[in-house]
Amino acid sequence: MKVLVAGGAGYIGSTVASACSDAGITPVILDSLVTGRREFTAGHAFYSGDIADGTLIDRIFADHRDIGAVVHCAALIVVPDSVADPVRYYRENVAKSVAFAQHLLRNDVRRLIFSSSAAIYRPGPDLAVDEDSPIDPQSPYARTKAMCEAIFADVAAVAPLRVLSLRYFNPIGADPKMRSGLQLPRPTHALGKMIQAQAEGIEFLVTGTDYPTRDGSGIRDYVHVWDLALAHVAALGAFDAMPGPATAINLGTGTGTTVMELLAAFNEAVGTPIRSRVAQRRPGDIAGAYARTGRAKSLLGWQPQYDLAEGIRHSLQWAAIRDERLSETSLMLPKVQNRDLQDSAGP
Ligand SMILES: NC(=O)c1ccc[n+]([C@@H]2O[C@H](COP(=O)([O-])OP(=O)(O)OC[C@H]3O[C@@H](n4cnc5c(N)ncnc54)[C@H](O)[C@@H]3O)[C@@H](O)[C@H]2O)c1
Repeated sequence: MKVLVAGGAGYIGSTVASACSDAGITPVILDSLVTGRREFTAGHAFYSGDIADGTLIDRIFADHRDIGAVVHCAALIVVPDSVADPVRYYRENVAKSVAFAQHLLRNDVRRLIFSSSAAIYRPGPDLAVDEDSPIDPQSPYARTKAMCEAIFADVAAVAPLRVLSLRYFNPIGADPKMRSGLQLPRPTHALGKMIQAQAEGIEFLVTGTDYPTRDGSGIRDYVHVWDLALAHVAALGAFDAMPGPATAINLGTGTGTTVMELLAAFNEAVGTPIRSRVAQRRPGDIAGAYARTGRAKSLLGWQPQYDLAEGIRHSLQWAAIRDERLSETSLMLPKVQNRDLQDSAGP
């Protein structure tokens, strides 16, 4: 079988493509390279272009008649950017997904996996969320994810299409074989900041210690990106067992990790503790959330294999080789990009 991976030149999509390939499912990648990297498409069929480009989508399906499913990871994902320019985010993430759906239906696609996010939830007092927790996205970015889920569910209700919305928590790590990882030079989520602090000998700031968590620092559910990718492989084989035409599934570890705990695990991994200090909350920061994962286990037979320490280790390993792997065009990237408020249960 072949699978079309839209956004397959990005961090998660490229890892999904590698996991599919390792599992004997041939990925075909469609990516506009707006944030993705051509290097990550090496060895796969690759179409450079937009998910809204109907002519291109028709050509892909004419070239690959055996595409049996589509994974839709293509999106813009930076929360502060979505606040600053909501029109762009609704156009890129929502309007283009509607066009994409139309093109997929025309090409008789029956199976669609949509990259959704834990950022759509309003966590309860214990900060754990399951798939029935209230949907209350707090940013234009998160609203685009909730909207797309709803749109795809409406389409699936009347078309011969099954949709699985996978709600990712906080991906960390890289492909264990180091074929791809986070493309940004200085990711600004907590782990990225720790890696930067270690590399440059600067202080790591624990921003906010007055949240309702066990030690007062924010809480996240860090899931290894390879485990996320394997969940897609499992999902591709589980469509027929889904309870309805549109199903949402949390992909997290089920374990919340506070910033303080992440710092301790990071220091353990690197041996020499980085300098750190407590600071005020930043505007827009939230306590965070972690997943209840029963549905992923029962419907996909999936549970994460990698622990936090391995996620940190693979992130460090990738950070050490990133520049060399992406050397050709890395100078074109801005030095700092905000991914910390991206997509949060959440960073
Ligand atoms: N990274 C996270 O923390 C996180 C968490 C939850 C959900 N998600 C979701 O997972 C998906 C992948 O995220 P990521 O972290 O890999 O981000 P990414 O930026 O690395 O990947 C997104 C990819 O989509 C491509 N793309 C964007 N718009 C496109 C378009 N119109 N046509 C074709 N290609 C397009 C980009 O070039 C990029 O390669 C996104 O849908 C995101 O919302 C990410």
